[in-house]
Amino acid sequence: MRIMHMSAECYPVAKIGGLADVVGALPKYQNSIGAVSSVIMPFYNNAFTQKHTFVSVYDSQINLGNTQIDFSVLKLSESVLDFDIHFIHINELLYKEYVYSDNDTDRFLAFQIAALDWILTLKDKPDYIHCHDHHTGLIPFMAQESFKYESLNKIPVITTIHNAQYQGWMSYENLYKLPRFNIERVGLLMWDGLINPLAAAIKCAWRVTTVSPSYMEELKFNANGLEHLLSAESSKAIGILNGIDSEVWNPDKDEYIIKNYNKTSVDAGKKANKKWLCDQFNLDDSKPLFAFIGRLVGEKGAELLPHALDYALRSKDLSVIVLGSGSKDTERQLLDLIPKHPGLYNAYIGYDEKLSHIIYAGADFLLMPSRVEPCGLNQMYSLRYGTVPVVRKIGGLKDTVVDIGDQGFGICHNDVSVNDIVMAISRAKDFYNLKAFKVNRKHIMSIDHSWKVSAKAYINLYNSIH
Ligand code: ADP
Ligand code: GLC
Repeated sequence: MRIMHMSAECYPVAKIGGLADVVGALPKYQNSIGAVSSVIMPFYNNAFTQKHTFVSVYDSQINLGNTQIDFSVLKLSESVLDFDIHFIHINELLYKEYVYSDNDTDRFLAFQIAALDWILTLKDKPDYIHCHDHHTGLIPFMAQESFKYESLNKIPVITTIHNAQYQGWMSYENLYKLPRFNIERVGLLMWDGLINPLAAAIKCAWRVTTVSPSYMEELKFNANGLEHLLSAESSKAIGILNGIDSEVWNPDKDEYIIKNYNKTSVDAGKKANKKWLCDQFNLDDSKPLFAFIGRLVGEKGAELLPHALDYALRSKDLSVIVLGSGSKDTERQLLDLIPKHPGLYNAYIGYDEKLSHIIYAGADFLLMPSRVEPCGLNQMYSLRYGTVPVVRKIGGLKDTVVDIGDQGFGICHNDVSVNDIVMAISRAKDFYNLKAFKVNRKHIMSIDHSWKVSAKAYINLYNSIH
């Protein structure tokens, strides 16, 4: 079974968030159970591509409307990943130091057309094309409707929705950029007067998946305008919980962290990582350490953090570290809080993979007050590192964290409000002082969220199509 994943991100090549982690792990686990799974993504100008070498395996041109654009397909020369990966290289559009910008219409359109053009030429075509998010949302439509891709229209295309908030909307004027198709089928592309790649994917993909079962249900009521569409297409849609790459995220082997540890050595291991963090960030390591890691956006409930943390820190019996970037307003408020709580609070505004690993290892609790959380990987990483997740009960968080009050192992709250966050922190502090806290640490480290189960679930899904 040959599966080709198409995505804008893939760890460790280019990562903005969880999409990269998923596309960097799922193919590897699929390969380990006998599939031949590969990735195709844009070629960006970033640290990874500068450090590695690539060979060109195909050169051609696409027409984006009246503009002719050269592209090549590059293959990574070294085998540093556990799956094959190809890149669409388009100098003027894709080869940028960023993954996303304010207007990516031409970039991802060109990526998708070039990728399908290349697939047309392959002797061993994929048995399944697996698209991720709206950046590859036009693939299911084009593979089915564009005249030049007619020979691909028997290949099942699967779309996974990682986040329905972003849909890739583009104006009708961009229609002429798509390879020719029967114009009577144009309705498949449209939603609310715009070309909507995510909506088109939901309509045209052979199967639609979301990254947790709860999120699938929630989308029928809250999908940024696509609620009715998702309800209408629910017979071909299924929620499959993401897994984690438990080799990359392994406190016993993790090269980023200060001291490695496993279930037996967790107390000493976490203590050393916590001490390093507290020394670096001027925090008190004798207090329970709470952390937040993530994009500082409304979906993550991030704009409530400054107020909630300010309030919680008044009791002076906890330490807090925040790692994230996003809304400038929230970033500023989080920084403004530093002088107000010296020795107890700090924030690093930016993206830092190494620091994130040390925080998962050193923190006692991880805060995730998300408004929307399709799956969430942070809570699963934190479990693996013996860090108790404090989460709002939504989406994938609801599917992976059970409250200690329900014989579980985490702290859950119902609402996205300052009050709920502060109350949850207070419950967490009480838990920290119980003997059960250290027992729970060992327990959560043994919960298996690796991709093993879900990689198989995707294979079963592909198999169910024929
Ligand atoms: P999302 O994809 O919505 O941002 P996920 O929980 O699925 O949320 O995944 C987020 C991923 O990005 C995790 O691997 C997390 O550790 C990482 N991450 C988020 N923000 C940062 C940051 N500022 N620095 C380092 N890693 C980050
Ligand atoms: C999205 C979601 C996040 C999910 C990730 C990987 O970015 O916001 O909840 O974990 O995709 O599927």
